[in-house]
Amino acid sequence: MFETLKLIHVLAAIIWVGGSIMAQLFALRLTAAAPAHRLGFARDLRFAASRIFVPSAIVLLGAGIWMVADSPGFAFGDPFVVIGLVAVGGSLATAIGYLIPNIGRAIELMTSGRGPEAGAVIRKVALAARAVIVILLVAVWAMVVKPGG
Ligand code: HEM
Repeated sequence: MFETLKLIHVLAAIIWVGGSIMAQLFALRLTAAAPAHRLGFARDLRFAASRIFVPSAIVLLGAGIWMVADSPGFAFGDPFVVIGLVAVGGSLATAIGYLIPNIGRAIELMTSGRGPEAGAVIRKVALAARAVIVILLVAVWAMVVKPGG
């Protein structure tokens, strides 16, 4: 059972963390892209964030909590678990409360011909998304290294 939960947990982490990094790398190429391509990218990004990354984060959290609850070797006070919980909470809240709504706003601005304003929104979204990626990488480090035992 533990192995199955860990497999689900790690697969969800790969999709969420790997997907977010990939999206950032694609976003870096956007400055030189045509407006139609930018709009398509923003729509795909909104889909990926709300339909792939958020559900993956919830699956990761569920499997993580289940592993800790079921294993005598782990406790909710373990530093790696606390770091993981803070990372998931912060990243999910940022994605749902800031990133996804602002991608939607950028799409609206682009479709109403306000490209420069959309660009400013997208730049802020990209910055916040990079901060989330750093948090997720810290969580991966904490999971593997388990600082403080
Ligand atoms: C963004 C947040 C998280 C990421 C990216 C993440 C990623 C990972 C990865 C890659 C592993 C495999 C590490 C290894 O076996 O060496 C792992 C293991 C594990 N994670 Fe997470 N995790 C996160 C959050 C959480 C949370 C919130 C919990 C608990 C509530 C949790 C509980 C665990 C447990 C119990 C293991 C198994 C550790 C072991 O077998 O040594 N994780 N996680």
